[in-house]
Amino acid sequence: MAEPKVNELMEKIVSLSKRRGFIFQSSEIYGGINGFWDYGPLGAELKRNVKDLWWQSMTREREDVVGLDATIIMHPKVWEASGHTSTFSDPMVDCKDCKGRFRADQIDSTPCPKKSSKMVTECGSDKTEPRAFNLMFKTYVGPVETEDNVAYLRPETAQAIFAQFKNVSDISRQKVPFGICQIGKAFRNEINPRNYTFRSREFEQMELEFFIKPDEVAHEQGGAPAEDAPTKNPAPNWGWKQWHQYWVEQRLSWYESIGLPADSLELYWQGDDELAHYARATVDIMYKFPFGVQELEGIAARSNYDLTQHQEHSGKSMEYFDEDAKQRYIPHVIEPSAGVDRMILALICNAYHEAMIPSAKGVPEKRVVMKFHPRVAPVKVGVFPLLKNKPELVAKAREVYDALKVHFACFYDEAGAIGKRYARQDEIGTPFCVTIDFDTLGENPEHANTVTLRDRDTTEQTRVSLDQLLPRLKQGLGLPI
Ligand code: GAP
Repeated sequence: MAEPKVNELMEKIVSLSKRRGFIFQSSEIYGGINGFWDYGPLGAELKRNVKDLWWQSMTREREDVVGLDATIIMHPKVWEASGHTSTFSDPMVDCKDCKGRFRADQIDSTPCPKKSSKMVTECGSDKTEPRAFNLMFKTYVGPVETEDNVAYLRPETAQAIFAQFKNVSDISRQKVPFGICQIGKAFRNEINPRNYTFRSREFEQMELEFFIKPDEVAHEQGGAPAEDAPTKNPAPNWGWKQWHQYWVEQRLSWYESIGLPADSLELYWQGDDELAHYARATVDIMYKFPFGVQELEGIAARSNYDLTQHQEHSGKSMEYFDEDAKQRYIPHVIEPSAGVDRMILALICNAYHEAMIPSAKGVPEKRVVMKFHPRVAPVKVGVFPLLKNKPELVAKAREVYDALKVHFACFYDEAGAIGKRYARQDEIGTPFCVTIDFDTLGENPEHANTVTLRDRDTTEQTRVSLDQLLPRLKQGLGLPI
């Protein structure tokens, strides 16, 4: 089918996400609140799957990474040390006419609220000079609202990992190189939240801080020369460039493993003028969203900036004693930092397909099929009795549903014609549907104890015996049998 236009496509995606319960506006009954989004029943499942898969690949399947779950509010000195209090800001301009506030570096692409056909730059109204606006949300700890009690909602999860580096390295028996990963909420008072959930004010991050030897130490210990291409088998004495490249490759292959094809992703090397204050090099993994190619994840080489800063500001040593090198040093770090919400949006955009599918009467109908990779699909299997007014079919279908639901997310549905039920599952991306009919009950003895298994992507229906159903589904879902 012809590709829908960009805005049209985003409108369809936003509308489907609301209609089927992926994403709602936060506080919608009060008119919503700009930059905040809620995940409905299906969105919550999708998000949980993505976070579980990340956690699985980042720590459970690795011996060299451990997890952390830290608080959102930390001592305000954390943000002084990290540089966020002084430098985490965007340039903001005010419009003297409509009083709107805009990010100075984005006014070329922001529609003027008064003259929506024009961009803010072209609307003809006077603007103030750009000034720095700190993106951290402020709050007060305790009942007294004085400057002494100011605290911030964390703008990234990373700093908690640096602040807890000593505790974790002391107790975990890990040796550098090793990593600490965390999933959690982050908050940024973005001047112009936009592109649906893409730039929100409350979002979730999945971050890994992977601590490595300083290059001098790695080289003394016979590390590979900086220009050597990394392999999938890391060497403890790699320098930062190899670890950086290694993590870029790891993360790219992870995105492919959850269904984002290689040709939907691009790598973008930040130029010197774009690098964050802490970074030596940053590669962004970009996804081709309908509204443009935009960042999903940044993979930064942060040197030993953060640990050094925390050592200076806290007065506590962040040095690590390397038994092999017999020396102390402050480890350097490579940081793959991903946004959960952007990943969810990319998965939804990537899954969205319109197809002409024959109705029960054989007439082709335009239908939406969400082609989620089975690993992330919010519902894995739909289970239906052919008819809801036949108690023996309903009882058998319930039995099948009860047996399957302990293995993966299933949805039981007995309402409406079977074709409609398939269509409803296609629209939320359920990879498989199982129908229990009279043959299952033995009406045709040849097919007794078999069910119809329907594949979302091929729409093919095959008969599978009940005792083979679980292994067949596990195989189709890419799970161990
Ligand atoms: N610790 C490094 C760090 O926070 P970042 O590039 O500012 O780096 C990392 O953020 C990731 O967090 C981004 O690649 C993006 O996926 C996500 N992210 C950042 N700001 C966001 C926002 N306002 N809304 C949604 N996701 C955001």
